[in-house]
Amino acid sequence: MKISPLLLISLARLSPPGFAQDGTPPDLAAALAETKKTALPLLPKVVGAMQAAVAAKGAAGAIPVCRVEAPTLLQAMRQQTGWEIRRVSLKMRNPATGTPDAWEVRQLADFNIRAANGEKPEQIEASAVIDEGGGKRSLRYMKALPTAPVCLQCHGPAESLGEDLRHSLARDYPDDRALGYAAGQVRGALSVRRPL
Ligand code: HEC
Repeated sequence: MKISPLLLISLARLSPPGFAQDGTPPDLAAALAETKKTALPLLPKVVGAMQAAVAAKGAAGAIPVCRVEAPTLLQAMRQQTGWEIRRVSLKMRNPATGTPDAWEVRQLADFNIRAANGEKPEQIEASAVIDEGGGKRSLRYMKALPTAPVCLQCHGPAESLGEDLRHSLARDYPDDRALGYAAGQVRGALSVRRPL
């Protein structure tokens, strides 16, 4: 396996001399801040690319942004950091890449409750240190991805979508559950898992 220099630097910096009594690594706050600083700039990039593509090509022509560009940006960041980074949802379009694990399901359900209780979806996030067994721990971080108006072009109610788009979504995603959203809901989350 090729280990990126950045990963080595992070591991060297993150390997703590000892965990605090409550199990919290002393530099957890720094690791969390670094995780957010690295991963969060992706989000406006994807939304911006989406808006530009929908404006230029219409929703059906913009599908490659969510289908190719967003996963490519995530892949580049995985390679650069060595962390697991993906997009997950309770109502997936692409179950092969977007299916949440048990911890992610709990956070996504909680995100929906928090949004229903009035928390701004763009501010909703969660983090935890997870014991992975064998003395290994990971830092997990999730940030809600709210539905901006542009997202409804492809994730809104089925009857609001053009026929072309409905057709290509049905062809490429026979198990699509990512329809029927309204603006300001939690569409899913960006999810990061990194070794501590
Ligand atoms: C042009 C159509 C289109 C638009 C607009 C769009 N998406 Fe998507 N979205 C897709 C497609 C297609 C996929 C499946 C991608 C794949 O195959 O990995 C997807 C997948 C996703 C996923 C991954 C989880 C899953 O369900 O598979 C998330 C999260 C997501 N979209 C959020 C958004 C958000 C947030 C917006 C608005 C900023 C948005 N999308 C706008 C077409 C679109």
